[in-house]
Amino acid sequence: MFAKIIDGKKISEELRLETAKKIKNRKEGLRAPGLAVIIVGDNPASRIYVNNKKKACEACGITSYEYALSESTTEQELLSLINELNNNTEVDGILCQLPLPCHIDENKVIDAISPEKDVDGFSPVNTGNLLAGKPCFAPCTPAGVVEMLKHESIEISGKHCVIVGRSNIVGKPAALLMLQENATVTVCHSRTKNLKDMVKQGDIVIAAIGKANFITADMIKEGAVVVDVGINRLESGKVTGDVDFEEVSKIASAITPVPGGVGPMTITMLMQNTLSAWERFS
Ligand code: GUN
Repeated sequence: MFAKIIDGKKISEELRLETAKKIKNRKEGLRAPGLAVIIVGDNPASRIYVNNKKKACEACGITSYEYALSESTTEQELLSLINELNNNTEVDGILCQLPLPCHIDENKVIDAISPEKDVDGFSPVNTGNLLAGKPCFAPCTPAGVVEMLKHESIEISGKHCVIVGRSNIVGKPAALLMLQENATVTVCHSRTKNLKDMVKQGDIVIAAIGKANFITADMIKEGAVVVDVGINRLESGKVTGDVDFEEVSKIASAITPVPGGVGPMTITMLMQNTLSAWERFS
């Protein structure tokens, strides 16, 4: 058996067209949605992500405002910028690309973004609302994973979802979102005992570890759905996920590739969150 390859790029294109259409057909005289994107320092991966986010904004008709700050920016300067953007009526969403330089406290920065403009869904208010199952901005990567599964009509309810990785950006919110969809959820991490046996129980496996080819075919149950959130750059320059795609695709029933799987979905969900932020203000 060979797995169905879930084409995140194609699903993203469809969803972005819908977002673009809603924006294009807005009421006459209404301004377009605005997204402020802050990048501090010159992390090459962050630069690529920010450029992709700006390109997606352009394609959807969202006005993007880039704030590229130097590595030496102080925490206070960054907090002042966020405060200004919180009060700027042209800006619906604010995103500060992570990671930040170590002299800046990421939590303080995330806390400073107004929850109504927190389109990344990282603020304590959005995190709390997600936990409580209330309306909120959900973090874009796990929201994109759920959207992809739904788009492919993959049943989530009653399924055992095994998540590998417990980050605040992916693993933990993915667990909450899958619970919301009535999955039975197990979260594994670096201290998990018998990791292979745990992962092998998963009807749906979400890999968010950050290690190339960590999930091998012997860890996957026949017919499982495998979602690869990893983006790892090999020494050769090639980008690869956390899953041994070649071998796992012989066992799984469906699998997401890297690149072209979850990555484009993350940005698509950011566009949707920005649209929702704008709709609330409009
Ligand atoms: N760094 C890695 N992923 C993300 C993300 O989704 N949002 C932001 N702001 N930074 C990130």
